[in-house]
Amino acid sequence: MTKDIEQKVSQLLEKMTLAEKVGQLQQCGPSIVGAFGVDFEELVNMVFDGRISKEKFQEMMSSSSIDLHEDDLRAGKVGSYNGISDAKTANYLQKIAIEETRLGIPLLFGYDVIHGYRTIFPIPLAESCAWDPELWEKTARVSAVEATAGGNHMTFAPMIDVSKDARWGRVSESPGEDTYLTSRYGVAKIRGFQGNDLSENDAMAACIKHFAAYGAAEAGRDYNRVDMSMQRLCEEYLPPFEASVKAGARAVMPAFNDINGIPCTVNEWLLQDVLRKQWGFNGMTISDANAIAECVDHGIVADRAEAAMRALRAGVDMDMTSNCYVEHVEELVDSGKLEISVLDQAVGNILRLKFELGLFDRPYQTDENREKNEMLKPEYRELAREAAVKSMVLLKNDGVLPLTEDVKLGIVGALADNRGEMTGAWAIKADSNDCLSIVDACQAEKLPHFYTAGIIDSEDGSFVDDQSVAELAYASDVIVAVVGESKVESGEAASRAEINLPLIQLKLLEQLYKTGKPVVVVLFNGRPLAIPSVQQQAAAILEAWHPGVEAGNAVLDILYGKVNPSGKLTTTFPYATGQCPIYYSHINTGRPAGRGKFTSKYLDTPIEPVYPFGYGLSYTTYTYSDLYVQIGKEELLVSINVENSGVVDGEEIVQCYFRNKVGTRVRPVRELAAFTRVKLQAGERQMVQLHVPISKFGYYDWDMSVVVDNGEYEIFVGGNTVEGLSTKIEL
Ligand code: GLC
Repeated sequence: MTKDIEQKVSQLLEKMTLAEKVGQLQQCGPSIVGAFGVDFEELVNMVFDGRISKEKFQEMMSSSSIDLHEDDLRAGKVGSYNGISDAKTANYLQKIAIEETRLGIPLLFGYDVIHGYRTIFPIPLAESCAWDPELWEKTARVSAVEATAGGNHMTFAPMIDVSKDARWGRVSESPGEDTYLTSRYGVAKIRGFQGNDLSENDAMAACIKHFAAYGAAEAGRDYNRVDMSMQRLCEEYLPPFEASVKAGARAVMPAFNDINGIPCTVNEWLLQDVLRKQWGFNGMTISDANAIAECVDHGIVADRAEAAMRALRAGVDMDMTSNCYVEHVEELVDSGKLEISVLDQAVGNILRLKFELGLFDRPYQTDENREKNEMLKPEYRELAREAAVKSMVLLKNDGVLPLTEDVKLGIVGALADNRGEMTGAWAIKADSNDCLSIVDACQAEKLPHFYTAGIIDSEDGSFVDDQSVAELAYASDVIVAVVGESKVESGEAASRAEINLPLIQLKLLEQLYKTGKPVVVVLFNGRPLAIPSVQQQAAAILEAWHPGVEAGNAVLDILYGKVNPSGKLTTTFPYATGQCPIYYSHINTGRPAGRGKFTSKYLDTPIEPVYPFGYGLSYTTYTYSDLYVQIGKEELLVSINVENSGVVDGEEIVQCYFRNKVGTRVRPVRELAAFTRVKLQAGERQMVQLHVPISKFGYYDWDMSVVVDNGEYEIFVGGNTVEGLSTKIEL
């Protein structure tokens, strides 16, 4: 296949004119043309950041015409679209490309299918807490089936930005703070999206993003600078991309940010030396939205023409909606400023992907019938419920959970009755009516419950509705307080400088604690929150994230013990925003906290988190014993006994960490090396074995050579980063 495709790419390139080649580099989005004159991307942004309601958006969409750039398409100036969200429109445009352009080169349709298309799964940060590569692959497979039915060929996912700063809004889209877990997540998602044969109608190319280190934006502020040592970049931020490229990802999206002063969009070291030469990537790259033009704002180029030249030369094949390529590349080549070979390389990468997707043989891979039949099948909803349940993390339980069905529930909080908020920030095709809220689920299960929003959002500021709260508390046995973040408070361009609960929600919780009734707090949020007061005063806390279409059912499955919670945090919950970035794989420093005044700590805040990486409770308990490490030539074989020492069957996520006690550069106190889920019936004990390649201990010395030290290592195995068994080994 590969040789055959290379031949076809070369033959086609030879036939193409300069203008036709440049046209292939252009991805455009549908533009809304109406009295208000904003384009589609801006309109979507207006919805995301709450400037217009979704209903207003629908009204504006329906009362406006959408410019699909057909004239440019007919003129051979368009190679791809982003955001075409139905089969009919996709086929309409594809027909123009096939029948009304000189060479009939098919279009490539890209879409942000981040955690589902119509069946919305938990946000990635939530799903990562399942520590379950099989699940991650399954949900991506369903997403691909639905999205390709809707006319798409590529998703701008998985997002595999290691994210250690909870102030950054896009932590919600990430698999959390750990490099190894993020790598496993990326590989699983690529398998799910791309399937076994990319040319199948239900397979779509995975476009891994954002390459690279976007999650390290300074101060957690989106799009901000990224400045770090090459050692840290190569040890902590690049490995998920390398693993994903090796797993066969067919597209890569450079990040908006710079790295040490060179924006990724024009970073030849990153896009040529690392991605193509070191890793052997031969897929397609596509800029982030408008990112080529924004190189002018970065101050790395003087104008759009130079931006086009630098980006193309650096290795950005396709231009997402900045129009810099279509405006300038022909002239750059004609004037000799840009070699035609650079252009041919980019066009070749794009054509190769279109051949791999089978688009030349079968440009129409869906129709309205398939689209109608493919969405939201019952088995997809079941998977969404399983994913949501596995993603939720029980953070505290004084014994009030699990509830029995006779308990009179008092449900407080607007998020308990808001379907739309369940989808999370990146769910463009979501329909809130597909979602089940907690109140919906209580009604469906005919559970004895009372509900009040508890807070009145008045024009002159919200206030706690004391009356309703008092009535509800009087009538209830247990209060379920549903608080957290709206979906627009996380995601892109949604960084927060304070990541605690809003004051009004804290006031509501104080009122509820005063009633004397046990308060179970359910959190719907897109990032870790600083919740020390909740940790101290609530009877129980369930981290539910933004869990998708089956939100309500999944929450009740856990509250009533239908499912024993197994989720474990993949991101650290700080005590205070001022601790950010805070993460488990920190170094020890020369003055670790806890040894008196002159040590690395704060005067006003603990240095520990409220909840550490890897943490999560169950309705049972697990006991670890008999840790034993066999040292092989290539790998360690780590064995440990895990017993379900409680009375409820469950699944434990066994985590294995290591620490290099003496390095040529200082090393973290813990690094995740392996993990596995193990099912244990009450009373059952199993020996769990984990394989740790010795290469995992590798890191970069001062001169950027990879070193694996001999000497003492600590191996730690447990149910989180603080509770478990450790042993020392000598390499
Ligand atoms: C956005 C995001 C990127 C997304 C792209 C296309 O700005 O940065 O993650 O895939 O635009 O929608």
